[in-house]
Amino acid sequence: MQAYMLFLSAFGFIPVKALDKCQSQKFSDFARALGPVLSPGASINFPGTDEFANATTRFSAYGAPDFAVTVDVATEGDVDNVLPVSASAHPLLGPGLGGGHGWNQGRYGLGLDQIVEANLVLGDGSRIVVSEDSHADLFWGLRGAGHNFGIYTFTQDKLEALFGLLDSFVADGAQPVELRHWVTFMRVPEIDPIHAVLATWIVYEGTPERASPYTSKMEALGPATTTFNTTAYPGIVVLMGMDRGAVSCLENGDHVLRFPIDVRGYNLTAHRAAYTIFDEVSGAYPALSGATMLNEGYSVRAVQAVPADNTAYPDRFNNLLLSASFRVKPNAAAEDATGGMDMDQIAIEAGLKIRRTLFEGGGSPDLYTYVNYGLGLETLENYYGYEDWRLARLRELKAKYDPDRKFSFYAPIE
Ligand SMILES: *[C@@H]1O[C@H](CO)[C@@H](O)[C@H](O)[C@H]1NC(C)=O
Ligand SMILES: *[C@@H]1O[C@H](CO)[C@@H](O)[C@H](O)[C@H]1NC(C)=O
Ligand SMILES: *[C@@H]1O[C@H](CO)[C@@H](O)[C@H](O)[C@H]1NC(C)=O
Repeated sequence: MQAYMLFLSAFGFIPVKALDKCQSQKFSDFARALGPVLSPGASINFPGTDEFANATTRFSAYGAPDFAVTVDVATEGDVDNVLPVSASAHPLLGPGLGGGHGWNQGRYGLGLDQIVEANLVLGDGSRIVVSEDSHADLFWGLRGAGHNFGIYTFTQDKLEALFGLLDSFVADGAQPVELRHWVTFMRVPEIDPIHAVLATWIVYEGTPERASPYTSKMEALGPATTTFNTTAYPGIVVLMGMDRGAVSCLENGDHVLRFPIDVRGYNLTAHRAAYTIFDEVSGAYPALSGATMLNEGYSVRAVQAVPADNTAYPDRFNNLLLSASFRVKPNAAAEDATGGMDMDQIAIEAGLKIRRTLFEGGGSPDLYTYVNYGLGLETLENYYGYEDWRLARLRELKAKYDPDRKFSFYAPIE
């Protein structure tokens, strides 16, 4: 098992949330006074500076908080000094705290399964070490509460054949650790000017010969385009179009609205219906033409090897993460002359409808929505699980470690 230490200073900055203009001014004055108590490597950054802009740039600007000032901390001691003066602090929340679902989860488990110890500063400024041996209760809560390569593009008429094949790879959790698939519904007019296509990545860890049982079946389906590449692990993000600067990682003020749902397998009837909703809405509004729907199919072997109650992460039993994802320009309605319609609202209605359709086809009574992708419309059970004891345990932790609710900007445990 890989292990790494998680230090607060590694998060780089503590944003301080502004309440109103007067309090902003008070904060600015306070932050100036804070200067002398911080370590020499720390800095206090105000709006209008590059440092402030970088520290507050977000993947999605939807529902973003306002910040009056950011403090770039250099030592853990700086964190103690900053936190007690902030009215509210953004969670120090890396993807690992919400799950850390990813390419290598079949081999190593979730990102949060790699955490062996964390140095935390609580809302009251006290500093604690959290591990199996120290504050084991909070250690549990912290974890849950963030090749060879073929790219195929299929036209939509192949949807049932493609997802039927992928479902056989998933095999209800038995997908080999070497194999990962990823399908994105997206509009590529050069391939299909009318309907969204199914862009499919097969990422196989091993030789082309070992991958051929999977790749030959993909080819037999008759893709519109096929590309093969070989890369080392760090190259995957480039081939997936997820490196820094790629459109999916832009931090340009767009609203990114995602509608995650975990499912055990692909239900072809429900998947076709979800595709149709996606295709219609992304085709009808130019402002939504950059929409995607992600179908993330990684092995779950090491994820499911960890007992369900070991960490706060509630959903180790579903095999796939599906999420409609709409990238909306905040001023899209005006630009597109769409009659002033609220594009966020149109995307939200379509996204919820897609999720409901997938949920109804999933045959499960409980909707699980990966907390790292959530929009904020979800329930606590959707994020943190349906067993009464889970939420009770998280509420106890909240009362014990964050009684003043300083870390409650997103998906707060109430
Ligand atoms: C801000 O981010 C950009 C892009 O990553 C980087 O080039 C620049 O150096 C950063 N500026 C500061 C002051 O950190
Ligand atoms: C992947 O392979 C194709 C040819 O099949 C090539 O055009 C493309 O540049 C390669 N991509 C990368 C990132 O190496
Ligand atoms: C698949 O989805 C359809 C439509 O929601 C539903 O009627 C059907 O029962 C689902 N099939 C399974 C096996 O759950």
